[in-house]
Amino acid sequence: MDIEFVATGAGAPAKAAVARIVFEGDTYEGAVAQAVSASRFTGGKGQTLDILAPQGVDAARLVLVGAGKREAFGAIGAEHAAASAYNAVKTSGLETLRVEGAGGADLAAHAALGVRLASYRFDKYRTKEPADKKPSVLKTSIPTADVDAALAAFAPLAALADAISFTRDLVSEPPNVLYPAEFARRVKALEDIGLEVEILGEAEMMKLGMGSLLAVGQGSIRESQLAVIKWNGAADKAAQPVAFVGKGVCFDTGGISIKPAENMEDMKWDMGGAGAVAGLMHVLAGRKAKVNAVGILGLVENMPDGNSYRPGDVLTSISGQTIEVVNTDAEGRLVLADALWYCQDRFKPKFMVDLATLTGAIIIAIGNDLAGCYANDEDLAANLLAASKAEDEGLWRMPLPDAYNKQIDSMIADMKNTGGRPGGSITAALFLQKYVNGTPWAHLDIAGVAWKKPSSIPTSPDGATGFGVRLLNRMVQDKYEG
Ligand code: BES
Ligand code: MN
Ligand code: ZN
Repeated sequence: MDIEFVATGAGAPAKAAVARIVFEGDTYEGAVAQAVSASRFTGGKGQTLDILAPQGVDAARLVLVGAGKREAFGAIGAEHAAASAYNAVKTSGLETLRVEGAGGADLAAHAALGVRLASYRFDKYRTKEPADKKPSVLKTSIPTADVDAALAAFAPLAALADAISFTRDLVSEPPNVLYPAEFARRVKALEDIGLEVEILGEAEMMKLGMGSLLAVGQGSIRESQLAVIKWNGAADKAAQPVAFVGKGVCFDTGGISIKPAENMEDMKWDMGGAGAVAGLMHVLAGRKAKVNAVGILGLVENMPDGNSYRPGDVLTSISGQTIEVVNTDAEGRLVLADALWYCQDRFKPKFMVDLATLTGAIIIAIGNDLAGCYANDEDLAANLLAASKAEDEGLWRMPLPDAYNKQIDSMIADMKNTGGRPGGSITAALFLQKYVNGTPWAHLDIAGVAWKKPSSIPTSPDGATGFGVRLLNRMVQDKYEG
C-alpha cells in the first residue's frame, strides 16, 4: 500500500473512493443526508455507508465511516475508522482511497497505519485468483493540515507496520516452507536492518545441555535451531538488556501423543510467539529504539517418528533440572524451559517476557480476544497491562498459585511436563517459572489471539494477527528507553 499525506485543501484525486470519518450526532446535507436517512447509519463505531456518485460531492464514491463518540476518538479510533474505510472499498475497482476527517498530524498518521495493517495480504501461493476478487485499492491519500508533521509521526508507525507484516508472513507460511532452519534464515536476514543475529544448531545446543528443547525436535528430520537476536540501541552499549523469548514450534503434530486430524493444520502457527518476538526486534531496529534488547527464539518441529521422544522419557534441561515427559504434546514449555534459562544465564536481563501459543486451556479460560498474562513481578505486569490498553491488544492477568505446583510433581524426576486438564494454562506457566531463576518475568499465552478466523478487528485481516508486536514495542518505548 502506497500512502501519501496531502494538504487539506487539495481536491480529491480522480476515480477515488472518498471516505469521511464521522461521529454520532453529526448532521448531513443534500444527497448525503438523503442517503443517511434511507439507512440505519448513525455514525456508530464500525458502521459504514457506501454512497455511489452522490450529487454535489466531488467523489466517484463516498463512504461514511462511523467512529462513535467524538469525545472518545483517538489513535486506535483513527486506525479502526481508516481500516474500515479500506475494507469497505478494497475490491470496489477504484485504485485510490482518500481518508478525510482523521484530524491532526498524529491521528492522520494513525489512520495511515490502520490502512497499512488492514491491507495486509498473504497471497504469494495464489495463482488463479480472479481479477475482480483482488483488492483494487493500491494507494491511500490522507489530507492533513501539516503534511511534514504527519510524515514525521508516521515514520515509527510505518516501521511498526513493516514489523507486523513480517510477523504475519512468518505465521502464515505453510510448515513445509517455514521449518526451523528457514525461520532462522529469515531472521538472519534481519542483519540488513541493523540487528545482530546468532543461530545455534543442534550440536551447539547439545554442548550447552539443552536436553529439553532438543528432545522435542528429535523426531523431526528438520534441525532444531535457537536464534539469538540482539539490538544495541542504548547510549550505554553495556546497559542491561530487556529480553524476549518466543515459542517457535514450526509444526506441532503433538508427537507420539499425536493430535486428532481435525484442525491440525492450525498447528503451523504454533510458532506465533517466536514470530512476534522476531517482529518486535524488527520494529526496535526499524525505529532505532534507544534500548538494548535481546530476542531468543526456540525453533523446532514436533513430529512422530522412530526417533521421537516418548511419554515416559526423562529429560535433563540446561538448568540441570529433570523433567518426566507425560505428554509429548506439551512441547512448548520444554522448548521455552531451555530458552528462558539460557537467556537469563547469558544476558542477565532486566526482565524476560516470553510469548507462546502454549495451551488450548487459555482459550477455554478467556477466549479469543485476550492473551493470558502471568508474571512474577508487579512492575512488569503493570507495564504490560498499560501497554496492552494503549495499543488495544488485550491482556488478562492470570494467577501463579504455588499450591498448583503439586499437579506437576513427578515420582521420578524434578517435575512432569503437564499437570492434567484443570488449570492447564496455569500449570504450564508454573512449569516455565521454574526456569527463570528469579529473574523478573512474564509469560503471555497467546494461543487464542495469534490467529483469528474470522477476525473481529478491522486492522487485522483473517489469519495471522501479529499479536504482541505492538504491545511490547509500546512497553519498551514508554518504560525502557532513554
Ligand atoms: N500448541 C498447543 C497449544 C494450542 C492449542 C495452541 C490450540 C493454539 C491452539 C500446545 O503445544 C499443546 O498441544 N498444548 C496441549 C497441552 C496438553 C497436552 C497438556 C493442550 O493445550 O491441549
Ligand atoms: Mn503441543
Ligand atoms: Zn504447541
